[in-house]
Amino acid sequence: MNAASKIDACVFDAYGTLFDVHSAVGRHQAALGEAAAPISQMWRTKQLEYTWLRTLMGRYEDFAKVTADALDYAFDAHGVTDSSLRGQLLEAYLSLDCYPEVPGVLSALSGAGIRTAILSNGSPAMLESAVDGAGLADSLDAVISAHDLAVYKPDPRVYQLACDRFDVDAGAVMFMSSNAWDAVGARAFGFNVTWINRFAQRRERLGHAPDHEVEDLSALPGILGIG
Ligand code: LAC
Repeated sequence: MNAASKIDACVFDAYGTLFDVHSAVGRHQAALGEAAAPISQMWRTKQLEYTWLRTLMGRYEDFAKVTADALDYAFDAHGVTDSSLRGQLLEAYLSLDCYPEVPGVLSALSGAGIRTAILSNGSPAMLESAVDGAGLADSLDAVISAHDLAVYKPDPRVYQLACDRFDVDAGAVMFMSSNAWDAVGARAFGFNVTWINRFAQRRERLGHAPDHEVEDLSALPGILGIG
């Protein structure tokens, strides 16, 4: 598909899509031993569940609090009580590694005149730290957080923020997420969606299939007809 003519803006999920959420635990693997991978996985799973549950309950807490609560759950489940390691992991979460193809892809999009943004459940301070840490600030036109709405994706009001920021219809946006549920939510909202299926996951049975499915972001310029 040559979608370049109709896509004005490329909007990216942050965690798992641009930033490797497992790089925090990865930096402290030795301290956690065999529990490292299961803790990292449980941390992420609980973090996401808490965003959905808090949205349904009408009991918003920001993503930093949700992330800390999820880590506490994962530590508790694995019998880890090291409070200094807890602090180190939360600190590491503020400067996660970005995936290697990310800077080049963002530059290619900017060079083609396509506006770029992050649209994330992350709190503004967390996102600013992650973007600065990965050196991506100059490659993004906007960093948009769900925070001011006090609800989380996949609530459609969060996706609407990107349309409002760029003054475009949903049909002029290509949205990228590695999170299958987020890809579905964005497609249901009306975005064009490229699912970055980094983890070879199955498709969700929620309807609203993504328009494109690729293994990483390097395929995006080709999808947009600018590669
Ligand atoms: C985000 C999470 C959901 O960045 O990955 O919004």
